[in-house]
Amino acid sequence: MNQDPFRLDGRVAIVTGAGGGLGEGICASLAAAGAAVVCADLNVDAAEARAFAIRDSGATALAVAVDVTDRVAVAAMTDRVVAELGSLDILVNNAAIYPRRAWTEISEEEWDSVLAVNLKGYFLCARAAFSHLQASGHGRIVNVASITAFIGLSHLLDYVSSKGAVISFTRALAREIGVEGVTVNAISPGAFPTDAEKIHPDPEEYTRWILEQQSLKRRGTPDDIGNLAVFLAGDASSFITGQVIEIDGGWFMH
Ligand SMILES: NC(=O)c1ccc[n+]([C@@H]2O[C@H](COP(=O)([O-])OP(=O)(O)OC[C@H]3O[C@@H](n4cnc5c(N)ncnc54)[C@H](O)[C@@H]3O)[C@@H](O)[C@H]2O)c1
Repeated sequence: MNQDPFRLDGRVAIVTGAGGGLGEGICASLAAAGAAVVCADLNVDAAEARAFAIRDSGATALAVAVDVTDRVAVAAMTDRVVAELGSLDILVNNAAIYPRRAWTEISEEEWDSVLAVNLKGYFLCARAAFSHLQASGHGRIVNVASITAFIGLSHLLDYVSSKGAVISFTRALAREIGVEGVTVNAISPGAFPTDAEKIHPDPEEYTRWILEQQSLKRRGTPDDIGNLAVFLAGDASSFITGQVIEIDGGWFMH
């Protein structure tokens, strides 16, 4: 236990999709809270750059090139993390892909590849991390979902389906491993200005529409997501599991 339940000193976190836009906020916030951060990404340059920036800030970071759909590579990553950093306390499942097109244009192969990264990847990382999270005594799994699972955004059928499944995965896994003391929660972002936004044909119109939907009239930032990740990764949230937290400026309300 940390003296301050919002600190993560001595904890080791793996963040998948660390090289991306929200990955930046998640990695930086976990590191600022005291965690050693493993920046895992398919894009090795992006992972290295993220780890470099964290080390530059004085914290501990390791870059790992990994495809989350590759069971053997994922297992090798968790083993390496424990061997080099001594433990694994936190897994943030964040890597995802989001090709935008009409649902009639989605091929079977594309459907499978989106579900493979966005859902199977979360499962494989959780499976590989589990024994280490259990051993840590305060294991945390934080799954990044999406508000689109609730509002059903069009032209993203495979992506939206995968995010709905991430929410169900979060709830079912939380029930199954609560007895082991490992919590499982989901962050459900609204719209954030990362590369993900470039899929929309008219970014200005899209931004206007987002601000109309939100109660709070500012754009969300990767740090907003990072702050929530710190909360769900630490002792402050130790009695919370199986929950989905919307972080969308007051857009979707259950
Ligand atoms: N940006 C938003 O508005 C928004 C909204 C809702 C949910 N989300 C979710 O937030 C998460 C992060 O999104 P982002 O906006 O940072 O996207 P991003 O595209 O900037 O980052 C995604 C990262 O995942 C990596 N990745 C892709 N396939 C991978 C694989 N097979 N193995 C390992 N890494 C892989 C990419 O290289 C990239 O660095 C995703 O789960 C996304 O669905 C984002």
